[in-house]
Amino acid sequence: MGLCGMAILNVVEWPAKVLETRANEVAVFNGELRQFVSDMFDTMEKAGGIGLAANQVDRLVRVLVIHISSKNEEPEDIRDWHDKKFVFINPSITSKKGKTKYLEGCLSFPEQYDYVDRAAEVTLVYKDEWGKDHSLEADGLFAICLQHELDHIDGVVFTSRMSRLKSGRIRKKMLQRNQISDMDEEG
Ligand code: NI
Repeated sequence: MGLCGMAILNVVEWPAKVLETRANEVAVFNGELRQFVSDMFDTMEKAGGIGLAANQVDRLVRVLVIHISSKNEEPEDIRDWHDKKFVFINPSITSKKGKTKYLEGCLSFPEQYDYVDRAAEVTLVYKDEWGKDHSLEADGLFAICLQHELDHIDGVVFTSRMSRLKSGRIRKKMLQRNQISDMDEEG
């Protein structure tokens, strides 16, 4: 694969084990990593997502990308984080503030949506794809998306943040979708 090539990676669906496994810190910041980040953006855009974590493309590294379009927003609701491509490597939340709730979806749980409680604002430290350190404060949908993707690299899927009833309903639908039969759940 050439360095300027575009590659669409395969997005894995739950119950793939990689989605519930903690990803490893990135130690080497090289061209291969930057190509992987570029492929993650291509994959996310094609799938119509606003965020993607490396676990979702079957790689256990602490890399996530976010790109939230402003195209459905009223002009007064457009924020500085809209329409920007963000890369977060080895991210870590240093503080959380407030509470919010949002109807979340996930590319690894197609067509499944439910409300998840999150912090309203987060502060985090992270590296970019060149290994440079950054810190950032996020709110709104950007903060929600960051917490969802950070969970992914910790091996935590969004159903784990729901009630047992809601989580069970979504997991059952996913098992049916992937044709994994469980007679105990059929009754
Ligand atoms: Ni997700």
